[in-house]
Amino acid sequence: MTNKKKMDSRVSLEDLILTSNRVGAVIESVRGTMLAPDARKRPPTFTTNQVAAICGLEKSQMDYRIKKAELPVGNMEGSARRRFSLEDTRIWAQTERSKFMRPKDAEAITIAVANFKGGVTKTTTAVTLAQGLSLRGHKVLVIDTDPQGSMTTLFGLLPDVDVTDEQTILSLCYGTELSIDYAITPTYWSGIDIVPANLALYSAEFALPSRQKSEANFEFWNVLNHGIDTARTNYDVIILDTSPSLSYLTINALLASDGLIMPLPPSTLDFTSSGQFWNLFNDLAANLVTNRGKSKSFDFVDVLLARVDANDASSSVVREWITAGYANMVLPVEIPKTALTASASAEFGTVYDTDPATINARTYRRAFDAYERVVELVEEQILTAWKRQIGEQHGS
Ligand SMILES: Nc1ncnc2c1ncn2[C@@H]1O[C@H](COP(=O)(O)OP(=O)(O)O)[C@@H](O)[C@H]1O
Ligand SMILES: [Mg+2]
Repeated sequence: MTNKKKMDSRVSLEDLILTSNRVGAVIESVRGTMLAPDARKRPPTFTTNQVAAICGLEKSQMDYRIKKAELPVGNMEGSARRRFSLEDTRIWAQTERSKFMRPKDAEAITIAVANFKGGVTKTTTAVTLAQGLSLRGHKVLVIDTDPQGSMTTLFGLLPDVDVTDEQTILSLCYGTELSIDYAITPTYWSGIDIVPANLALYSAEFALPSRQKSEANFEFWNVLNHGIDTARTNYDVIILDTSPSLSYLTINALLASDGLIMPLPPSTLDFTSSGQFWNLFNDLAANLVTNRGKSKSFDFVDVLLARVDANDASSSVVREWITAGYANMVLPVEIPKTALTASASAEFGTVYDTDPATINARTYRRAFDAYERVVELVEEQILTAWKRQIGEQHGS
């Protein structure tokens, strides 16, 4: 294609509307191409070895169980290769990993993925975590609190085309709904439901402060916290993706959470900006929580070294600063910068959506293993949080 850029062309507001429409049309047709034949995302299927690995079984134990046929035995393709559907894989995980499942009296653990900055892999981390936890048997609700709707897009929904304003958390923010339940939508990934987002969600930034002025006893920062009360009993884990700002919605996400994950690439600017994030958060928390005689603590706060470039000499220095500053909050794992998402179609998914056969095996393995380790570490902290909940019930 030739670039027709003219160096002397003025642009009117009407031109911009036309451009925006054109871009929207391209996005829609791109999705059609990426997700052919019917523009819907499809979940992966799993080999016997993969299911065994998820369940922590030896191959021989797995084969024995398949023979007994007490659990779904998968489908044999034309060849002798057995494949398990996502649904079946989750049934295996729930059965074989029963000691990791949510105890009867415990509630969902809510996790916000947050950072001031855009492009630090918040959304990728949130979606990958949801997929990994769901594969381990947990029932997950993801909530997109970013009006840009990147998480929504990764689940195969185009925010401006497939999502109505009423399907987002907007009604909760306006107060016409008190529980998030109205907005819960199933996804292509069984075991993950979503509350999607679209651009209209920006108006929450006006609705929340305006209600704060006009409604007695209104607490703009607790809207999501209260809104997910019923979801807390219906899900095992709730994951909140946030926008790259400390907006009213992000404050809601942070204060609704039991755990926080901050993806942080080891670059100087990302590190310094992360400091500003906590400064601002602490000011807000003092205003909204401490000064009102309330308290709040998190079950865990994790800093996740993200998009680490092995060839970047400066990153090892910044990594030291991060460790010095965040101490034991830093997770003992690094997500490598990888070409995995460099192919356009892979951008519609994560490492869990990628068919290993389509890309470089070593690249895939490194990224996949790193994310698996993150999921494992987060699950461990979730189990601890559940124990804490139950301990408190028994203590009181
Ligand atoms: N490990 C990685 N290596 C390289 N690029 C990545 C990696 N993870 C995500 N990306 C890409 O980085 C960009 C920003 O990621 P995203 O999750 O949207 O960040 P955020 O939500 O913080 O804005 C996306 O294009 C994504 O595909
Ligand atoms: Mg994002």
